[in-house]
Amino acid sequence: MRTIIEPFRIKMTEALPLTTREARAARLAFAHNNVFLLAAEDVTIDLLTDSGTGAMSDRQWAALMLGDESYAGSRSWRNFERVVRDITGFKHIFPTHQGRAAERILAATRLKAKEIVPNNSHFDTTRANIEYVGAQAVDLLTREGRDLYSEQRFKGDIDLFALERLIETEGAQKIPFCMITVTNNSGGGQPVSMQNIRDAKQLLKKHGVPLILDACRFAENAYFIKRHEAGWSDKSLIEIARAMFSFADGATMSAKKDGLANIGGFFGCHDDQWAEDFRNLLILTEGFPTYGGLAGRDLEAIAVGLMEALDEDYQRYRHATVDYLARRLMERGVPLVRPPGGHAVFIDAAAFCSHLSPRDYPGIGLVNALYLEGGVRAVELGSVMFGKARPGGDEEPAAHELVRLALPRRVYTQSHFDYVIEVIDAVWRTRDRIRPHHIVQQAPFLRHFTARFEAA
Ligand code: F0G
Repeated sequence: MRTIIEPFRIKMTEALPLTTREARAARLAFAHNNVFLLAAEDVTIDLLTDSGTGAMSDRQWAALMLGDESYAGSRSWRNFERVVRDITGFKHIFPTHQGRAAERILAATRLKAKEIVPNNSHFDTTRANIEYVGAQAVDLLTREGRDLYSEQRFKGDIDLFALERLIETEGAQKIPFCMITVTNNSGGGQPVSMQNIRDAKQLLKKHGVPLILDACRFAENAYFIKRHEAGWSDKSLIEIARAMFSFADGATMSAKKDGLANIGGFFGCHDDQWAEDFRNLLILTEGFPTYGGLAGRDLEAIAVGLMEALDEDYQRYRHATVDYLARRLMERGVPLVRPPGGHAVFIDAAAFCSHLSPRDYPGIGLVNALYLEGGVRAVELGSVMFGKARPGGDEEPAAHELVRLALPRRVYTQSHFDYVIEVIDAVWRTRDRIRPHHIVQQAPFLRHFTARFEAA
């Protein structure tokens, strides 16, 4: 059959709010034109993030009931550890309440001020945790990866020449570890090839620098490798995932993505000293090492979810959904980051709103237009999120003005996406009406969450 169907049927429903344009206009004004400040009940299709927003399966809900809430040594911990070890092979495994908790403890235990951590692209919490201890987070994406429209398939690859140059100029002793983010969220959800992970490991090994995977979307990355990288098509997704992790000395993970859970994460590594230091700070700030800030039932749900994310029928459907949305938007001429990534479709808001300059925050105008048109919530990844203040009150714009439509896992059906396409198409045909926005109030850090905007 040519039609790729959702490989599940629906056992429980959740009502979607259907609102009028007048109501949405009032809500958006009340939210100071910032969709982060909307009440979720006022959003019809929520594509703000794919993190923690997925639907759990009946097997996960059943596993929740088996949660062992013992403080120490719970059975749920052993189930969790067994599954994570089966996939990653790490000697030491520590649950955390979400991905950034693993990042924070890793940064606090392994980094000192002025040290450097390279990555293909740091996610913003990873960068912030590294900078918080005074170290430097460096993005080393290849030229193709930085080009929004390059059709190369593995645009998440880390630039090995740039990595080698960085090690040679700064010295390996200044680089306590290197990271690779699979898939590369900040760069459009683009995959990293097995070859790139292998070559990066080889180069790093020569210099004694450990490799840490930011593994949030490891199963989506494994599916890209199976489909597009020579030599992997007859391997199962778990075999591919094991091969990816075999090159890593450690990994941070947000189970809110490919753990198919609503909360959770972990850190894994081989080194005993790293584990010892991580464990001590984990106990201080997250919890005892057999629960790490999670309930026993969460550990059970994650253990089941991780294996479901490696189900090939699920990944085929997941990727088909992103492709379906992207293809129909491209047919209509909507400018998108190419080729579509694993968890989201990214609109080039600068090209979409060619009558606006970065100073007009085109991404905010587009996000607000999508909400007004059909109650669809997307997120700006442009000069509001990444713009830098210059001395004198001016601002350096971000490299790109993107709007991300992130797809929650197993939540929306094809007709929901047909609706999203219709909404975007309507905004595309009337794009000249998207107005410039300016900030009337903002916080000194991570301003996008709370800034207040006015439309000109
Ligand atoms: N690394 C990557 C690549 C991520 O995308 C995220 C979260 C994290 C780390 C942090 O994990 O949220 O569990 O603490 N990304 C979400 C997003 C928030 O919307 O892309 P967390």
